[in-house]
Amino acid sequence: MIKKNFIVLLSILILFLNQIYATYDYVPRSADIDRSPKNILVGSFIGGRSHLKPMLDITTILSERGYNVILLTKGNYTPSSEYPTVKQISLGPALNYKELMKSHIHKDVDFNGMMKFVKLSLESYRENYEKYINIAKDNNIDLFFCDTLVNDVCLDAAHTLKKPVIGFSSSIYFTAPVSYKSDPLYGCNISLENEPFLKRFKCIAMHPFQVYFAAHSFIDQLNDIRKKINVEPGLIALGNSPRIPFYLVDGFFGFVLPQSLPSNVQEIGPVLSDDYPPLTPELSNFMNTHKRVLYVAFGTHFFTTTENNNKLLQSFIEAINKNIIDGVVWALVETSKDSYSSTLNLTDGTQVQTSPILNNEHPHIHIAAFAPQFSILNHTNTKLFFSHGGAGSSHESLYTGTPMLILPFGSDQMGNADKLKSAGVALTLYKFTLDVNDIINKIDFLLRDENVKKNSKRIEILSKINSKRKYRAADLIEYILHSSSIYEGIDKEFLKEWIPAESRMGFIKKYNYDVYGALLSIILGFIGGILWVTFKLIGFIIASSNQKQKYE
Ligand SMILES: *[C@@H]1O[C@H](CO)[C@@H](O)[C@H](O)[C@H]1NC(C)=O
Ligand SMILES: *[C@@H]1O[C@H](CO)[C@@H](O)[C@H](O)[C@H]1NC(C)=O
Ligand SMILES: *[C@@H]1O[C@H](CO)[C@@H](O)[C@H](O)[C@H]1NC(C)=O
Repeated sequence: MIKKNFIVLLSILILFLNQIYATYDYVPRSADIDRSPKNILVGSFIGGRSHLKPMLDITTILSERGYNVILLTKGNYTPSSEYPTVKQISLGPALNYKELMKSHIHKDVDFNGMMKFVKLSLESYRENYEKYINIAKDNNIDLFFCDTLVNDVCLDAAHTLKKPVIGFSSSIYFTAPVSYKSDPLYGCNISLENEPFLKRFKCIAMHPFQVYFAAHSFIDQLNDIRKKINVEPGLIALGNSPRIPFYLVDGFFGFVLPQSLPSNVQEIGPVLSDDYPPLTPELSNFMNTHKRVLYVAFGTHFFTTTENNNKLLQSFIEAINKNIIDGVVWALVETSKDSYSSTLNLTDGTQVQTSPILNNEHPHIHIAAFAPQFSILNHTNTKLFFSHGGAGSSHESLYTGTPMLILPFGSDQMGNADKLKSAGVALTLYKFTLDVNDIINKIDFLLRDENVKKNSKRIEILSKINSKRKYRAADLIEYILHSSSIYEGIDKEFLKEWIPAESRMGFIKKYNYDVYGALLSIILGFIGGILWVTFKLIGFIIASSNQKQKYE
């Protein structure tokens, strides 16, 4: 009897449990959005690998999602091989970097030096503006993705056509300036946190004047041209612009010094490709037979004096002779091979002929005309990267946990060098005081120091995690594409969910200076009042005591 009851109870229990599980039959959540085909224009005035590659890495994700991507830039970037889904339209011949960089060799590059690029962009503004408008109309462009550096033509075309525009930059400092940061381009430290008052005064109070004097004549020129072709006048874009409602920045805190960011500036770096060209068999052989390799590359556009080249080569030879490193892989552009002396005098008095080395006959120095940089940095035997400190190279080095020795030449490189040094993964050199012993000591230090190893490991992890954010970048572009098509265009309300109020408020209101001013006057008035009453009172007491004396 008891047994029977038990069986009945058990069956009821099983039925009951079944019921529970039946109601928890799982159904997938879908995050799909309606994807109608749309057209995206990627625009960069400067062009070249360092500016285009991260933008194309992001838009490649978008073309995989079914959007059409058109690249508009100077020169002929080779998207056909690296980015087959991107259609390129050229804005004429590439910038002549060799000519532009010549003046960088013998002097420090400051903010004024950067104005050369502004000047160049103005020379072709009118012609390029027409191209932008025609191409945008012919291809039904729905969204402009513009490199922010001297690229007013891209922003203005979007503005005229009332299309959404997203700004892209590798510099958080220039996109979202804050009061406690500066840049070596202005002769200032990257961080003003520990700077004495006078330095902060120079870097903060003088800054607007520096920018004004460097840029105002160009702003006037640009507005003259704009007026002639019915483009609404405005400022010039030097990192940010009132014409850009939303920014993607290819950087990350850890490399860049941390700061607060407005909600419409999204940090999405480091942007890296999914695949990279592999080592050539020759390089692979060299890398596998050398255990402590120094990789040297200064980017495609940068070069220095023959004297400096000699010092660099001499340092590498001596570092190998001292067994600090056992190999050097050097990405040497063909044209700079002639800027070395024929013999070098080593510190120990011996002489070395340079031509056999440059012709790749040295057993431990490999000169590579084509250097698959990422794969070299990714190799376990690459222990140090001797770099110019460009943003792209820095990202690749950080991603692979390779410490750096940096010789900056211009633009953002001085600032990057200081950032990497303050992150504890690099040491820096200065092009006017290069010294062979100093270079060798720094190489030695970077290879041995335990903190450098730990910091490199830490930032490697951070870079790897952050490198997934290019998908977030693509998502945000997709969101802006769709939100603009829902309302059929853009107006004052467009992207109000991203743009913080501060960008619409004046300087005084934004910082509540009027409130503080009023508060200060109230306090001063109050203190003044008390003082006035006190003085009156003292006067009265004195007067009355005098009177008293008189009557006594
Ligand atoms: C910049 O400031 C840091 C401390 O905030 C200091 O260590 C560094 O030496 C300074 N660099 C220059 C170039 O003044
Ligand atoms: C090396 O020394 C010789 C004289 O001993 C001199 O002619 C030559 O210019 C020196 N080379 C360099 C690169 O300084
Ligand atoms: C980088 O190194 C990892 C691990 O050694 C390897 O799996 C990967 O294929 C390498 N990638 C490149 C591009 O060299």
